[in-house]
Amino acid sequence: VQPPEADPERFWVRWHRDYDDPASRLSQRLRAVTRRTRQAVDAAPPGTVRLISACAGQGRDVVAALVDHPRAGDVVGRLVELDPYNCEVAQGALVGARLSGIECVCADAALTDAFDGAVPANVVLLCGIFGNITDDDIRHTAQNAARLCAPGAWLIWTRHRRSPDITPRIRQWFTGAGFELQAFDAPDESDYCVATFCLTAPPLAFQRGIRLFTFVR
Ligand SMILES: C[S@@+](CC[C@H](N)C(=O)[O-])C[C@H]1O[C@@H](n2cnc3c(N)ncnc32)[C@H](O)[C@@H]1O
Repeated sequence: VQPPEADPERFWVRWHRDYDDPASRLSQRLRAVTRRTRQAVDAAPPGTVRLISACAGQGRDVVAALVDHPRAGDVVGRLVELDPYNCEVAQGALVGARLSGIECVCADAALTDAFDGAVPANVVLLCGIFGNITDDDIRHTAQNAARLCAPGAWLIWTRHRRSPDITPRIRQWFTGAGFELQAFDAPDESDYCVATFCLTAPPLAFQRGIRLFTFVR
């Protein structure tokens, strides 16, 4: 399947091309997300590890993190991506990496319904979302994130740090929602950050029908 180059609505297909350059900012960010995702799987309790990724794109982070991870066979989960081409690429990559416990579904990840049956998760990825939604929606997502989580879940989000850098406020929103910061990867020479949190408060009950955010770009 070829991406439909001329269709401007397929911006999110073209967006992934920067991953093809290992020196790109996006590839640097990928390496940080991959490292933290591997650590999150390491930290999960013995047995089945449930992983979810919202707005998963082509699933590059999940596949890179798990392809040679010693616990890859323990991991089950769901990637949720709205663009059908990206979804197909992600599903193909999951199959190619023999991650048979993980599926990619083409659905609206902003609605909690998309994760019904895949939660409570031990590992939650919210990467490439917070630069595309309003500050209010970021706060709302932080306040409801524990609905997707198992006790002690690790949650990873990314956001650019361009002025005005709101990542300190986002960190506060997650801390206020019961998460504790584990790592904050924010290299001086780049403008991205990768924030890794652990849920230290009890999880909230999962509820269908909650809209977490709306993409505004
Ligand atoms: C910035 S990219 C991030 C992709 C991936 N998480 C990564 O970091 O490589 C945002 C992705 O979100 C997808 N997307 C946008 N709105 C969505 C929604 N409501 N539900 C699911 N995916 C959505 C886009 O198609 C795009 O692939």
